[in-house]
Amino acid sequence: MSATVEQMFARIAKRYDRANTLITVGLHRRWRRRAVRLSGAECGMHVLDCATGTGDFAIEFLRVVGPSGRVVAADICQPMLDVFRCKVERGYPNLTIEAADMLALPYADATFDIVSCGYGVRNADDPFCALAEMARVAKPGGRVVILETGMPQHPLLGALHALYTRRIVPMIGELVTGDRSAYEYLPRTAAAFPSGEAFVAMMADTAAFTRIDAYPLLGGASYIYVGVKRS
Ligand SMILES: C[S@@+](CC[C@H](N)C(=O)[O-])C[C@H]1O[C@@H](n2cnc3c(N)ncnc32)[C@H](O)[C@@H]1O
Repeated sequence: MSATVEQMFARIAKRYDRANTLITVGLHRRWRRRAVRLSGAECGMHVLDCATGTGDFAIEFLRVVGPSGRVVAADICQPMLDVFRCKVERGYPNLTIEAADMLALPYADATFDIVSCGYGVRNADDPFCALAEMARVAKPGGRVVILETGMPQHPLLGALHALYTRRIVPMIGELVTGDRSAYEYLPRTAAAFPSGEAFVAMMADTAAFTRIDAYPLLGGASYIYVGVKRS
């Protein structure tokens, strides 16, 4: 992530959760829970959440893997991690929150049962490299689970989505965080980023997966992608 984008997340960190909830009308929580279900996460599993930010995806995994499981939550933006630390305080002895770049993950090959990333791959300087790194640290047969923005294919939905993301989202973002540019960056990057079949093709190009499934949310406004790591 460029220094400019890192500074942007640092500026909005304290209000990021509130803006997320307002912009998605709370749906992001349901989407995270669905992604956790689709990942096949079970009690006792070892999960890495990359670009964890303020940790909402990691918290959903913690609920499912339970006290016998373990979640490592990593990001390179300290102010986002600070908000996450305040949220959980010492509530989860099996949670590690640490600084790590998803383009060069400091973990051995085949370490985790599940490697997840919520709305982070799009922000990486090299999304393909981020996917390859996530696959590298997943165990053979393990899952890489991505939650990412998308572009609805249906013309009417696409027009409504464009109106909402380009006009309403920057207004909400500015009201909640005082930073309009961060919420103009979001629709701009989402519009330019591969979604649906194009994102599946990028995952397939890593040659790391035996199977990749894509699940559209709200007509394709977001997607859950699940890749099964090659044995
Ligand atoms: C839109 S936020 C998503 C946060 C959280 N995963 C969620 O689902 O709400 C994007 C996050 O990606 C992080 N990020 C971007 N590039 C990164 C990289 N190369 N390594 C680690 N984190 C990165 C940012 O610091 C930011 O916290």
